Amino acid sequence: MSAPSPWVEAFAPATVSNLGPGYDCVGLALDLPGDHVLARRSERAGVHIVDIDGDHGKLPTEASRNTAGVAATQLIDRYAPGAGVELRLRKGLPLGSGLGSSGASACAAVIAVERALGLQVGKDALVEACREGERIACGAAHPDNVAPCIYGGIVLIAALDPLRIVRLPNPTPCHVVVYTPDHEVPTAKARAALPETVPFAAVAENSARLAQLVHGLHENDLMMVGEAMVDRLVEPVRADLIPGYRDAKAASLEAGALACSISGAGPTTFALTDDPQRAKALLQIFDDTYRMAGVRGEGRVATISGGARVVSPPLH
Ligand code: HSE
Repeated sequence: MSAPSPWVEAFAPATVSNLGPGYDCVGLALDLPGDHVLARRSERAGVHIVDIDGDHGKLPTEASRNTAGVAATQLIDRYAPGAGVELRLRKGLPLGSGLGSSGASACAAVIAVERALGLQVGKDALVEACREGERIACGAAHPDNVAPCIYGGIVLIAALDPLRIVRLPNPTPCHVVVYTPDHEVPTAKARAALPETVPFAAVAENSARLAQLVHGLHENDLMMVGEAMVDRLVEPVRADLIPGYRDAKAASLEAGALACSISGAGPTTFALTDDPQRAKALLQIFDDTYRMAGVRGEGRVATISGGARVVSPPLH
C-alpha cells in the first residue's frame, strides 16, 4: 500500500448576501471569520468525511447529507469520476447565522479537493458544485453565498442557467460591521416565511434600489450604496424572525451607519461605514441594542476581501 497523500487545507470566508435589495443575487466575501476544510486523495472511491470539529456535533458526516460532502461529490462526479477523497471539516462559522456557513464549508471543500486531485475546473464550475451543497442545506440552490465565497469581493449573479457571475467593484474605504445574535434562524425557515406573491410596487422599488446599489459601487460612492440598501420584499418579513433587529437597525442608522440590513437569511445584522472609529461604535450599538432585547451575541468589524483559497502551509 502506498503512503497516504498529503492533506491540502483550504479556507473559505463568511459572506454577506442579499445586501438589501439583492435577494438571492448579490453577495460579498468578508476577510474573517470562515471555515477550513482539509482534503486528501484516498484509495476508496467517493467522498468520506472523517471528522468535523467546531459544529457542536450538529452536522452529519455522511457525505450525501453534508454541504461539503455534496459539493465535493459533485466536483468528483463531473471532473474526476472514480476518484476518492477524505475530508476533515473545521467549522469557524456558526450554523444558521446568515453568514453563509453552509456555503463556506462547501467552498472550502471544493477548493481543497480541486487541489488534492490536481484539477483545474474554473470558478464557475466550483460555484455550480457548491450550489448543490446549498440545495441540501436549505432546499434551494441559491448562489449568493457561494459565488462571492469562491470569487471574493462583491458579486452579482446575473443569471442562473447558464450561470453568469459579474464581479462588482469593492468600495473603499468600507468597514462591514457584522453582529450575530445568539439566535439560530435556519435558512429553510427564513425562506419558507416569504410570501409566494409580492406587490408590484415593492418589486419596482427593489429593482430601482438594486440598480442604484450597482451604480454606487461603480462610483465608489458608499453613501449612495448605503442609500440603496432598501429592501421592500424580504426584510419586512424576516425582521419579525429576529428579536431586536428593528431596534438595532434604527440605533445604528441614528449613529451614522450608511446602511444596515439583514445578512442573508439572518439573524446576523450588518452595517456599513467608511469610518473605522464609527465602525467600533456601531459594533457596540449592536451589542447594546440586542442585549436590551434579551439576546446576546458577538460581532466584529470586517472588510470585504478575497475568496476561498488554499492555505499553505496548512494550519490544522
Ligand atoms: N439569499 C439567501 C436568502 C441567503 O436570503 O435566503 C441565505 O443565506
